[in-house]
Amino acid sequence: MLPGIVLTLVSEPSFKTIIEPFRIHSVEPMRMTTRAEREEKLAKAAYNLFALHSDDVLIDLLTDSGTGAMSTEQWAALQRGNEAYAGAPSWFRFRDAVHDLFPFTHLLPTHQGRAAEKILFTVVGGPGQVIPNNTHFDTTRANIEFTGAEAVDLVIPEGKEPASRHPFKGNMDVAALRSLLETRSADVPLVLMTITNNSGGGQPVSLANLREVRAVCEEFGKPLFLDACRFAENAWFIKTREEGYADTPVADIVREIAALADGMTMSAKKDPLGNIGGWLALNDDELAVQCRNLGILTEGFPTYGGLAGRDLEALAVGVHEAIDEDYLRYRIQSTSYLGEALEAAGVPVVVPFGGHAIFLDARALLSHLGPLDYPGQALACALYVEGGVRSCEIGQVMFGLGADGVEREAPMDLVRLAIPRRTYTQSHIDYVIEVVTRVHARRDSISGMTITSQPPQLRHFTATFAPIS
Ligand code: F0G
Repeated sequence: MLPGIVLTLVSEPSFKTIIEPFRIHSVEPMRMTTRAEREEKLAKAAYNLFALHSDDVLIDLLTDSGTGAMSTEQWAALQRGNEAYAGAPSWFRFRDAVHDLFPFTHLLPTHQGRAAEKILFTVVGGPGQVIPNNTHFDTTRANIEFTGAEAVDLVIPEGKEPASRHPFKGNMDVAALRSLLETRSADVPLVLMTITNNSGGGQPVSLANLREVRAVCEEFGKPLFLDACRFAENAWFIKTREEGYADTPVADIVREIAALADGMTMSAKKDPLGNIGGWLALNDDELAVQCRNLGILTEGFPTYGGLAGRDLEALAVGVHEAIDEDYLRYRIQSTSYLGEALEAAGVPVVVPFGGHAIFLDARALLSHLGPLDYPGQALACALYVEGGVRSCEIGQVMFGLGADGVEREAPMDLVRLAIPRRTYTQSHIDYVIEVVTRVHARRDSISGMTITSQPPQLRHFTATFAPIS
């Protein structure tokens, strides 16, 4: 050691306890129910958890969409909301905040993500068109199919295996994308990548994979769009799992992701910490004109797009809170806390754990049931009856009914425990762990479900069910 230089290696002590990086500022009471009450409510809801009154739900893990808690800064920003029909200062603040991370030429706010999808696919979709994605989310698929186009999922094979430990199970199968483009290039208006891959278990996409997909898109002259609802969680996984990014600020990772794309759809109800909102952003001037005109028909003038000025203000703050690294560390750690406890208890879960949710493998958990006994629906109902926990089936009910009305076996039967952002504490999650492990212990007694009525699209929202006796 050089004389006069004293090396002191001070490292932060590491604590096991997960610290929620916020204090509770305002509380929302929850109501306990009895098992008998829940059985009755569920039967009245025809075994569809979307039909419950949410007062009858104790811990609501149906979705992480629009269900997060806003921060004091977001509530303060609401007061700055300016409701001018055109050119409100709230619009400019929103535009600048989004642009800082996603510098696409055109930004069209929408009331939520599916409105952006509807606009985009109305313009680029239509009969004969095919849109590849790692895995389409249900509304994306439905919006594409509604135009007569085909939605194709090309996630890597590991992405369909709940037990595979690939660190980026949301990656696109680049060879499959190439072969689709080789045979049907003329029918492909754009390539989509969902980050994180919600329907495939909330699994991230690596920057390496995005770069490869970008290269194939360039080779075939196709624009690459992101379905970027959970962009911050995806960026955190890149930081913590992809070589070379440990010291890169999350904001820069997000900018690097954006730089690989030509446009994006966004549900601002997820990572941007809004209770409502979304946007469509893109570089292509001609496409933007068509989308803007359509948006005026359905969403409103392009400086508010279906949102109040105050919503735009809350999002302008939220989009940056989403990339706060203390927040993201807590967010991802608290999701894996649930996953690790369930895994340790022998409950089959999708690994590695995703960002916004833990997915139970209902097909493995209820192995005595076949896919057409809707094991995911049966498990979700059992969790509600056991402890008032509401979850969401992502399997045969959600994806089993084709656009042609024919039922086909879905790749997986998952039940998603989605964690609303900044909403539940660790003791709420401990309770959820207890509920799931109790249901797991009595799994052999859980019977399958049958569908008693269903709509032609997005059937999971309104279908009715009955238990098979
Ligand atoms: N894309 C993805 C990947 C999504 O997860 C969602 C919504 C959307 C698009 C549509 O956005 O709801 O604002 O219209 N996912 C929610 C969920 C509903 O529960 O996962 P939206």
